[in-house]
Amino acid sequence: MANSALELHGIEAYYGDSHVLQQVSFRLGEGRLLGLLGRNGAGKSTCMNVSVGLLPPRAGSVEVFGATVTRLPPESVAARGVALVPQGRRIFKSLTVRENLMVAAHAGFATSHEPWTADTVFAMFPRLAERRGQLAGYLSGGEQQMLAIGRALMANPRVLLMDEPSEGLAPQVVAEVMATIRKLKESGLSIVLVEQNPKLVFDIADDIVILNSGRVAVVSTAEQLKSGGVDLRQHLGVF
Ligand SMILES: Nc1ncnc2c1ncn2[C@@H]1O[C@H](COP(=O)(O)OP(=O)(O)OP(=O)(O)O)[C@@H](O)[C@H]1O
Ligand SMILES: [Mg+2]
Repeated sequence: MANSALELHGIEAYYGDSHVLQQVSFRLGEGRLLGLLGRNGAGKSTCMNVSVGLLPPRAGSVEVFGATVTRLPPESVAARGVALVPQGRRIFKSLTVRENLMVAAHAGFATSHEPWTADTVFAMFPRLAERRGQLAGYLSGGEQQMLAIGRALMANPRVLLMDEPSEGLAPQVVAEVMATIRKLKESGLSIVLVEQNPKLVFDIADDIVILNSGRVAVVSTAEQLKSGGVDLRQHLGVF
């Protein structure tokens, strides 16, 4: 079995008194892509916030390549090679495209892949290269998503967490983003891809975890889910 890149064990997470994650455990193997699915409010983003140290869990543990990072501050988790592409992009709209990349630059952990720099990000996303001097707030939704991905890559992570990168994008642009994610997987990155639409992840994911009301409802390989046997509508609605 591959080494674990990221493991959550028995996570109990709260926002104030609201108990949002209950006994959440899952494992991302090194070099694999895990699709994290669930309806609105299922707890997907909360899992990402717990994973990167933005929301310390009340119980349970988080491990990155076997080292416990539970309750470490976000910068310490980032220093261990975990980067998040947050839901809604959260790029710096009043900085230029290039400045957005440079604020995140870090030598990081890149091993098999040549290190990510502004130049290698621009080579991957030529449309960002053309707009490198423009304010990021003027980019289209798809370009902003590419910039958010590029910014995360600038930290040269070992584990990349992507929270609904397809949200609000036209189908053609979603296809481009998915092609990018496929390339990143081929480069050896370990990836969690959060999505609501299972169709987008089944062909790209190795493993699937489905959250339902803050609990893990299904853990499976993508292969097994594709061949049926699990009633996805029960957990995800109709697609
Ligand atoms: N900052 C917050 N304070 C209080 N409650 C929150 C906060 N963020 C999320 N919640 C609640 O926690 C639950 C899980 O939210 P979360 O954002 O993790 O869901 P999600 O699966 O990412 O949903 P979506 O697909 O809509 O992004 C929801 O009931 C949500 O209302
Ligand atoms: Mg979310």
